[in-house]
Amino acid sequence: MTTPLADILLRRIRAGGPVTLADYMAECLMHPQHGYYATRDPLGTAGDFTTAPEISQMFGELLGLCLAQSWLDQGAPAPFVLAEPGPGRGTLMADIWRATRAVPGFHAAACVHLIEASPTLRAVQAERLAGLPATWHTTIDALPDDAPLWLIANEFFDALPIRQFQRSGEDWRERVVGVQGDRLVLGLTAPAPQRDLAHRLADTAEGDIVETCPGATAVMAAIARRVATRGGAAVIVDYGDWGSRGDTFQAVQGHAYADPLAQPGMADLTAHVDFRALAQAAHPLAHSALIPQGVLLARLGLGPRAERLARGMVGAVLENHRSATHRLTDPAEMGNLFKVIALVAPGAPLPPGFDPAQKDTT
Ligand SMILES: C[S@@+](CC[C@H](N)C(=O)[O-])C[C@H]1O[C@@H](n2cnc3c(N)ncnc32)[C@H](O)[C@@H]1O
Repeated sequence: MTTPLADILLRRIRAGGPVTLADYMAECLMHPQHGYYATRDPLGTAGDFTTAPEISQMFGELLGLCLAQSWLDQGAPAPFVLAEPGPGRGTLMADIWRATRAVPGFHAAACVHLIEASPTLRAVQAERLAGLPATWHTTIDALPDDAPLWLIANEFFDALPIRQFQRSGEDWRERVVGVQGDRLVLGLTAPAPQRDLAHRLADTAEGDIVETCPGATAVMAAIARRVATRGGAAVIVDYGDWGSRGDTFQAVQGHAYADPLAQPGMADLTAHVDFRALAQAAHPLAHSALIPQGVLLARLGLGPRAERLARGMVGAVLENHRSATHRLTDPAEMGNLFKVIALVAPGAPLPPGFDPAQKDTT
């Protein structure tokens, strides 16, 4: 089945030639009329995929208290910016807000700023977060830069458009989306040097794929500028690893993997997050060691919190709660695939639960 966006892309590529994977992804996710995020709320069991805050309130509660402790550890500055890029349904921020209401001064000092490019999801968030002192922005550059910043992002960076390059001798061929007959197909540009990938010649072989995410680099630089000059911390949760590992471009539709080119605008397109690239783009911030989500949540007290909540539950509700706890933390589920990194100004304490980075991961 073709889609309205497929027709638009076919026409555009026939007229102007192949587009980069980043251009293709950006159109598929955020085209104003046909983009996946721009036109729908894809989260939850009725949607295409679910996320940690939608699985259990404990995720936001524990990370909220982690941010609040970090705020206390840096002298409880007031006012401060509490920011979230890509807030989905607003569930994470709602849970953070509820969990931190007992932290003296936290709510009075916090100005909530949400960065959301999708008008549809912004409306869902506004309803969910009614009553919070919240402001919405389309891009991270609009965040205030005159106050300390505590920022949390869950599954935001994986949605940012990536570019892919295939090693060819000392050069690189970029993967692009072209047209064959009436179908979108993947192709490769002619080999060319890529100055930004010079450092990858040492750890790749002929034919290897390397991914870059220019949008993520820009977002991290904007965060770093604010945290380095004003203080605060950024906590980033996503699936990915330290370094870019081959082709991770994927589509998910109806809770199953799909062909990323088959139905543009109808599937969620993502790629694994390269945390090393995020940390490097956040210069001069100091970063923690990359930690599996399951380990961090356990350190932040998931076990006792889960038991406390379980006391008031019976039957199917209790069963769901047990399975949500397992899903968030088990290494075979989200516990290991999802990783977390914290970034702070040089010399500032890391938020609770995080270890300093080892020398070989800088
Ligand atoms: C996978 S959802 C994650 C939602 C939420 N953080 C959660 O954990 O449930 C990705 C979110 O990022 C937003 N988003 C994607 N690309 C964006 C961009 N370039 N600028 C701002 N928001 C973006 C989407 O609209 C959506 O809210």
